[in-house]
Amino acid sequence: MAATGTTASGESAFYVTTPIYYVNDAPHLGHAYTTVAGDVLTRWHRQRGEKVWYLTGTDEHGQKIMRTAEANGVSPQEWCDKLVEDAWKPLWEHLQIANDDFIRTTEPRHTDRVQEFVQDLYDKGEIYKGGYEGPYCVGCEEYKSPGDLLEGDLCPIHKRPVEWLKEENYFFRLSAYGPRLLEFYEQNPDFVQPASARNEVVQFVKQGLQDLSISRSTFDWGVPIPWDPKHVIYVWIDALLNYATAVGYGSDQAKFDATWPANVHLVGKDILRFHAIIWPAMLMANGLPLPGRVFANGWLMVGGEKMSKSNLTGISPRDLTSHFGVDAYRYYFLRAIPFGQDGSFSWEDFSARYTSELANDFGNLASRVAAMIGKYFDGTLPEAKDAGPAEQAIADGLAAAAAQADTMIGDNLDFAGGIGAIFDFVKQVNGYLSDQAPWKVAKDDSPEGQARLAAILYTAAESLRAIAVLLHPIMPATSAKLWASLGAEPHLGALADQRIADVATWGKLPAGAQVVKGEILFPRLENA
Ligand code: MSP
Repeated sequence: MAATGTTASGESAFYVTTPIYYVNDAPHLGHAYTTVAGDVLTRWHRQRGEKVWYLTGTDEHGQKIMRTAEANGVSPQEWCDKLVEDAWKPLWEHLQIANDDFIRTTEPRHTDRVQEFVQDLYDKGEIYKGGYEGPYCVGCEEYKSPGDLLEGDLCPIHKRPVEWLKEENYFFRLSAYGPRLLEFYEQNPDFVQPASARNEVVQFVKQGLQDLSISRSTFDWGVPIPWDPKHVIYVWIDALLNYATAVGYGSDQAKFDATWPANVHLVGKDILRFHAIIWPAMLMANGLPLPGRVFANGWLMVGGEKMSKSNLTGISPRDLTSHFGVDAYRYYFLRAIPFGQDGSFSWEDFSARYTSELANDFGNLASRVAAMIGKYFDGTLPEAKDAGPAEQAIADGLAAAAAQADTMIGDNLDFAGGIGAIFDFVKQVNGYLSDQAPWKVAKDDSPEGQARLAAILYTAAESLRAIAVLLHPIMPATSAKLWASLGAEPHLGALADQRIADVATWGKLPAGAQVVKGEILFPRLENA
């Protein structure tokens, strides 16, 4: 396997997607939550040496966007262009998101293929013309069943009145797919995760599916139905197809074959049914392979409600990164909230974890070790001749932490558990240093004393070498600073090329490495 992160050609990429976000407003913490999770997952797989493809993008059609643009006195396209370029793309850069592509649903590479896909279903008899009326939530861009509404006419998610819509439109024969979907869930028990999400989907499909209205004729901001351009394609059908059009569906067969299907679709729990029911049914109808997994994450809550711009509770990620820094931001949400569950954002909890876990446990460890190697060995990493059982325990602890983190983060998307395992190791190294007290051993200038001191500081530095690698997917800039301070690059190469599979191989950082006390990794927080 090449050290650059590519694998033998022909092998399909580990393909991960985020939802494509509505550009009616600027991003808030809830949107960034999923995008950071996908970034950590894909960076982790890159460090496994796999070929990876990470896709994000924006959902630009539909009534919600159209109305927002109208209210702002610009065309929908102008509105989308502005939001994408001024708000969404710059935020992902700021948060160090390493996406491989960014798809916009107004791009011809998408709209042309969407028309072909829908035409194909029409030609196959999967789409027919009919009429529908019912309550519609523009916030969700979805017809609701009357039984789901609160107080008679409120959307349960947006808590705002629905609108009554009556339209003649085209329908996809979704109802016919219930049995095949149930069989598919049965044969692929991990398709929908976590288990609570899977249960919800299975129960819903068991109750029987209705055909799905897939066109709108009361407004025109969308992709026209090819055989009847008075209608535009329902924004959700248009949007779901981004996962295929972005990787060459219908245009670049080689790329499509090398990427499709997605291994993981990350979605918020509110859009689970679209991804776990409608999307696989659309693919079945078209004869395309189905994705590996749909993982539904929970919501970030404020005051017991889903954080959202429309409820004026949407906090901008930059409000937090300007105080805590980008890496601490990437760390905090994944560490504090079990992935798949709802979690509340609290400034106090973020500050507390920043100080105890990042600044004290991790940051201080890095600076103390570098300072002692500077003081006692002039910054040259000594050889560990006198390693004993205490050092062996550290090597064993590293092996356990690396294996756990790899399974938890890389396979199970249990980010909180995996980061926890890495930080347990950080704590173990801190405990080791307190027990060994190198600052006392240093006072013994006999050859034995100096050999012990060398073994202790080598062990701590070698542990930090591994910690830098394991934390790189989560906190790339901090890990890079640590890598530089350990003087690792001239001996081991670039941090991004370090592999998870051999991170626990003990003794990689060679004696002679030039250790410098770099900048403080997590400076003390200013009073907010
Ligand atoms: N455009 C659709 C998705 C189409 S995917 C083919 C959409 N967009 S959205 O901008 O409204 O939401 C995008 C994602 O952000 C969803 O997964 C949603 O769950 C997530 N979040 C929005 N607010 C959230 C929180 N407060 N917390 C966590 N995620 C939430 O739906």
